[in-house]
Amino acid sequence: MKPPACVRAAAALGLSCRGCLRFGGFSSWRRQMSRWNDQENCCPQPPQEAPRILITGGLGQLGVGLAQMLRKQYGTDNVILSDIKKPSPDVYKSGPFVYADVLDYKLLRELIVNNRITWLVHYSALLSAVGEANVALARKINITGLHNVLDLALENCLRLFVPSTIGAFGPSSPRDPAPDLCVQRPRTIYGVSKVHGELMGEYLHHKYGLDFRCLRYPGVISVNTTPGGGTTDYAVQIFHDALSTGHHECYLRPETRLPMMHIADCHRATVEFMQAPECQLTLRTYNIAAMSFTPEEVAQEIRKHLPHLKVTYNPDVVRQSIAFLTASSPFIAH
Ligand SMILES: NC(=O)c1ccc[n+]([C@@H]2O[C@H](COP(=O)([O-])OP(=O)(O)OC[C@H]3O[C@@H](n4cnc5c(N)ncnc54)[C@H](O)[C@@H]3O)[C@@H](O)[C@H]2O)c1
Repeated sequence: MKPPACVRAAAALGLSCRGCLRFGGFSSWRRQMSRWNDQENCCPQPPQEAPRILITGGLGQLGVGLAQMLRKQYGTDNVILSDIKKPSPDVYKSGPFVYADVLDYKLLRELIVNNRITWLVHYSALLSAVGEANVALARKINITGLHNVLDLALENCLRLFVPSTIGAFGPSSPRDPAPDLCVQRPRTIYGVSKVHGELMGEYLHHKYGLDFRCLRYPGVISVNTTPGGGTTDYAVQIFHDALSTGHHECYLRPETRLPMMHIADCHRATVEFMQAPECQLTLRTYNIAAMSFTPEEVAQEIRKHLPHLKVTYNPDVVRQSIAFLTASSPFIAH
């Protein structure tokens, strides 16, 4: 019998697939491989153990909320948040947290092995505006960090989720609506690194069977967590400013239309996508969309509840140009 894809892949990379070899060689690979991928066959399956999930870059805008949702379904101890930052007391008390730098391959491997991780959500990244301000660091975290995670996912037969972004599109992308598969050609290091991630994940899936899953997130709007330096951050800040000072200075022009999504929808989409039987996935990377609006439109809506809101516009060259490239990209939900 042929060894499983991840064993072949790990061998090709000079690694051993711990998850599959642990129980004694290739003959039993199907049993090990299918622990979380049983639904691949779309046949009725016996009850499964809960997945053991590691989230990298988990203390940013999205990780804590996703961990909360996953912990409700799979148990607190089965979901480990990690980051290079110190967690707040609330986050620290809410469930397992470990330090993990995605540039430290050995440390990541140790975490995955010691904690018997089966699903990995890779959230570490430098976002668009921050990345453009530090291209070398963005390349390191978004590309080198991703390669570490891809290798470890192959080696350990993990189900791997890596989000992509609307920033993965560029000015030559078709629009209205955006197809999942189309010309991309982004012009930011953030977009380039995300397209690289999409393609590497798909390549490793097709060549070695890596269970790679990717959604292109729009700008995410959250209440309790702050955005980490993307182009859509104003859409969170404007609500806080409306409630606190009543004045928001926007770094985008009033007519800049960008795709957005509420954080609860983003988390739900991510969890459902992670749970989807593999046989139902026709692609490894999908767009997700909710709504699109301009700063002026969101200000008008907020004024229906807080009429005193004043918005002034002071476009930032970098963010406005990133927004232009993204806004001229396709998956604007009207
Ligand atoms: N938030 C959005 O609107 C949005 C939109 C599209 C895609 N995404 C993607 O979703 C993912 C999560 O986004 P987010 O908004 O939570 O990002 P964020 O910037 O808020 O958080 C990223 C986290 O990565 C951590 N990090 C940085 N360097 C690291 C390293 N070397 N090792 C480990 N961790 C490191 C940071 O400390 C930070 O907590 C990212 O991949 C991002 O590209 C987010």
